[in-house]
Amino acid sequence: MSKTAIVTGASSGIGLAIARALLENDYRVVATSRRISQGRELRPSPRLVLVDGDVGARATAERVVEAAVSSFGGLDLLVNNAGIFLSKPFTEYTASDYDQLLSTNLSGFFHMTQLALGVMDRVEHGHVVNIGTSLSQQPVAGVPSALPILIKGGIEAATRSLAIEYAPRRIRVNTIAAGVIDTPMHAPEQHDALRHLSPTGRLGTAAEVADAVLFLERAGFVSGEILHVDGGAHAGKWA
Ligand SMILES: NC(=O)c1ccc[n+]([C@@H]2O[C@H](COP(=O)([O-])OP(=O)(O)OC[C@H]3O[C@@H](n4cnc5c(N)ncnc54)[C@H](OP(=O)(O)O)[C@@H]3O)[C@@H](O)[C@H]2O)c1
Repeated sequence: MSKTAIVTGASSGIGLAIARALLENDYRVVATSRRISQGRELRPSPRLVLVDGDVGARATAERVVEAAVSSFGGLDLLVNNAGIFLSKPFTEYTASDYDQLLSTNLSGFFHMTQLALGVMDRVEHGHVVNIGTSLSQQPVAGVPSALPILIKGGIEAATRSLAIEYAPRRIRVNTIAAGVIDTPMHAPEQHDALRHLSPTGRLGTAAEVADAVLFLERAGFVSGEILHVDGGAHAGKWA
């Protein structure tokens, strides 16, 4: 029987690659973002439901989780991927930056995860995967990002906390700490500078992050893990 997954931020980049990989692996998918129904990348099908909405709004999470239950009868996997990144010296973050990051990156995680866990808890089965960043554990000179890291790092801590809380109900919680990944988040003209942020000398691909989601799905005894997908950047220093 195929599994059901929710993928947030699935219209672009990493989320789109994850949604595609899950569909290729026989999952039924509820894919969501603010404008996902307007894109050409994903088309609704008997195994794919598209839900438009701002991930920071509780009402979006309610509609997305309801779509999984009403269309596919339950929920096996939530991928919290929707997110924005703002690199700035700390004193230059504005109140508007703060509100935007809090809404998309933190409220998006909170509402979606809380409602998804409610469904998973009833059947004592499920898996939550968050997409984080290797910058949480390894800040890089020249990429000041304390405000987004405050939230991504908090979600790493919540990953461990929820893994312990939900382990008795056979629900796993993991985070993928991604390095620099080639997505529309980074303009092509930035790539030459960004590739030096990995010892491999290249950006990762969104498909490589999707591979890690599929691995975590198969790895039934892995929970509370922060899995780095960064070409080894977290392991040390390089020239
Ligand atoms: N690319 C990297 O180098 C990198 C590295 C580490 C971590 N990450 C993390 O990976 C995740 C995906 O990043 P990406 O590189 O794939 O970025 P991306 O290509 O810009 O995609 C971002 C996705 O999030 C959605 N989104 C943004 N704001 C939203 C909102 N308020 N409500 C609902 N959906 C929203 C966008 O769709 P709509 O515009 O249609 O809403 C889009 O689908 C993010 O959490 C990011 O922090 C990325």
